[in-house]
Amino acid sequence: MNKITVEAAQPYDVLIGDGLLEQCGRLIRQACSAARKVLIVSDTNVAPLYMDTVKSSLEGEGFIVSEYIFPAGEEEKNISSVAGMWSEMAREGFTRTDIVAALGGGVTGDMGGFAAATFLRGIRVVQISTSLLSMVDASVGGKTGIDLPQGKNLVGAFCQPALVIEDTGCLRSLSTEHFTEGMAEVIKYAFIMDGTLFRILSSRAESGSAGSLQTDAEALTDIVCRCVRDKAMIIAQDEHDNGIRQILNYGHTIGHVIERDSNYSLSHGVCVAKGMGIIIRACRRSGSLESKSADMMTELIRAYNLPTEDKITPEQAAEGARNDKKKRGDTISVILVNKIGSAEICRMSTEELLEFLKT
Ligand code: GLY
Repeated sequence: MNKITVEAAQPYDVLIGDGLLEQCGRLIRQACSAARKVLIVSDTNVAPLYMDTVKSSLEGEGFIVSEYIFPAGEEEKNISSVAGMWSEMAREGFTRTDIVAALGGGVTGDMGGFAAATFLRGIRVVQISTSLLSMVDASVGGKTGIDLPQGKNLVGAFCQPALVIEDTGCLRSLSTEHFTEGMAEVIKYAFIMDGTLFRILSSRAESGSAGSLQTDAEALTDIVCRCVRDKAMIIAQDEHDNGIRQILNYGHTIGHVIERDSNYSLSHGVCVAKGMGIIIRACRRSGSLESKSADMMTELIRAYNLPTEDKITPEQAAEGARNDKKKRGDTISVILVNKIGSAEICRMSTEELLEFLKT
């Protein structure tokens, strides 16, 4: 088992390894010794696969366990689902020492975390990630929340977990589609801060083994650990997204607009890949990113079966970005990669973003 500690104001561990779901009761008991009750939050895709294992592991440690299962999908990431979780905890008589365990991917982690952040003005959450996207990004760093019709993640709270459990065995059962979308976030780290990861992913792609990563348990675990270490390093510096943490949003500002405009029919990872593709082309046209690097970046995204193009116009992208939750006053932070392995934060008005996308 790999252990990476996130040095947030209240530090916590991310545990990564095969078969951790069976041990989750013991691991959660160590991290949350005062807890008696646990609400497991999960969706209709994940619960049939893992709920029984997690529940019996928790009950084996003496926890009183209840469940809240919601229909799978980003469109369920709303206040009604969170209200269902609040009601369940109220019915079960949860107190401040009890916990939520969010079992699943990014949507489950965001909502379970938000329900925990707000119930009784804040109880603890344990993130139990089952998707690649959640393991490398969403479950670490304490961002929780829900979507509004006007935009993604517009309501939420920072709520650092008490513990993150990442059972890499779950990655074997992911659909190719879900695995591929998670790769968008992996590639993001390679672009913004991890030149070594870029080389690892590129050399797999060049040797024709990009497609076998999902079944290469050792390589995959190393990559997940790498991404979590990268993210932990960022969170230690900027827990509340006021500075360097914003680089993790590379490709996301436009990606979120594409995602919302598709009514969430396109997955988050696919939209982030498209958003990265659009920014790569804009940087190349503006002359800040060398053509060779732009080609290498675009090829890497495509090698992992992700798209780099979208029909969104610069006008639609800039207009959609007006609602970006990271907007401060009249400007938004646009993340640029002008050299592979490092990112910069560029503050732009929506008019400047439009000009940049049109260059
Ligand atoms: N997913 C971006 C962040 O955690 O800041």
